[in-house]
Amino acid sequence: MVAATDAASLERRSNVRVRPMTQADLRSVVDVHFEVFPGYFLTRMGRRFTLLYYAQYLTHHRAYALVAEVDGSVVGFIVGGRDVGDLERRFYRRNFATLASIIAYRFVTDPVARASILARAPVVRRATRTVLRPKRAAEREAIKRARKPARRPTASVLSVGVRERHRGLGLGRMLLERFVDLARDDGAHVVKDTVQRDNVEQLARKVRAGWREIHADEHRVSFALEIVPAPTEPELAVGGDDLKFTP
Ligand SMILES: CC(C)(COP(=O)(O)OP(=O)(O)OC[C@H]1O[C@@H](n2cnc3c(N)ncnc32)[C@H](O)[C@@H]1OP(=O)(O)O)[C@@H](O)C(=O)NCCC(=O)NCCS
Repeated sequence: MVAATDAASLERRSNVRVRPMTQADLRSVVDVHFEVFPGYFLTRMGRRFTLLYYAQYLTHHRAYALVAEVDGSVVGFIVGGRDVGDLERRFYRRNFATLASIIAYRFVTDPVARASILARAPVVRRATRTVLRPKRAAEREAIKRARKPARRPTASVLSVGVRERHRGLGLGRMLLERFVDLARDDGAHVVKDTVQRDNVEQLARKVRAGWREIHADEHRVSFALEIVPAPTEPELAVGGDDLKFTP
C-alpha cells in the first residue's frame, strides 16, 4: 500500500481523477457500495433500491455526487448535499411503489433486514405521510422549519467510500476536498458527517482530521467541519436534519 499523499499531487497522476458522477456510473457506484458497506441498510435492500438511492443525487439541485476514477474505473464515490431532508422525502415520494414493494419483500424474507427496517420506522412513516397526504405533510414541514432556531448553512456527507485495494492513497481526501468546494460554492459554512458507532476506524479518522463532535447517540456520532470561519455567528448551531438516513 502506498502512503497517503496530498490530493493535488495525487491528481497530477494522469490515471487518477475525481469528477462528477453520471448516470453511466451508477452500476459501478452500486458495486463499490456493496463492497464498502456490507450489511448496511441499502445493501440489505438490494441492488435496485441502492441504484435508485444514488440516482437521486444526479437530479436534485442541492445534491453533490462525485466519483474517484483510477485507470478509467470507478473505485470510490461521495454523495451528500445541502438539504438532506428534502432529498430523503423526494427519494421516497418519487419511488414509493417500487421502494414499498422491496421493503415489504425484504421485511418478510430477511430477518436482519427486518430489524433494519423497524429501526427506520420514523423515516418510513414520514415517507408514507408525504405520499398519501402531500399537502398536510408540506404544511407540517413548514411549521417545523419555522419553529427551528436559526442555524448555520450546513451541507451533509451522506456516503463516502473507496474500494479496499485503493485505500490509503489519498482518494478519500480528494473526494472530500472536492465535496467541500461544492458545499462552499453552494453557500455552506459547515460540513456535517455522521459515523456509525461501530465504525471505529472512521471515528478515529474524523478526530485526526480535525472534525468536531457535535452529537452522539447509541448508534451514531455526528461531526462538523468548519469550512467558512464564523466570527459573527458563534451562537448558531450546525444546521441539517438531526435524523440522518444512514446508507
Ligand atoms: C473512509 C475512506 C473513504 C477513506 O478513503 P482513503 O482513500 O483510504 O483515505 P485517504 O487515503 O484519502 O486518507 C488520507 C487522509 O485524508 C483524510 N480523510 C480521508 N477520508 C476522510 C473522511 N471520510 N473524513 C475525514 N477525513 C478523511 C484523513 O486525514 C486521512 O488520513 P488518516 O487516514 O491518516 O487519518 C475509506 O477508508 C473507506 O471507504 N472506508 C469504508 C467506508 C467508510 O467507513 N466510509 C465512511 C462512512 S461514514
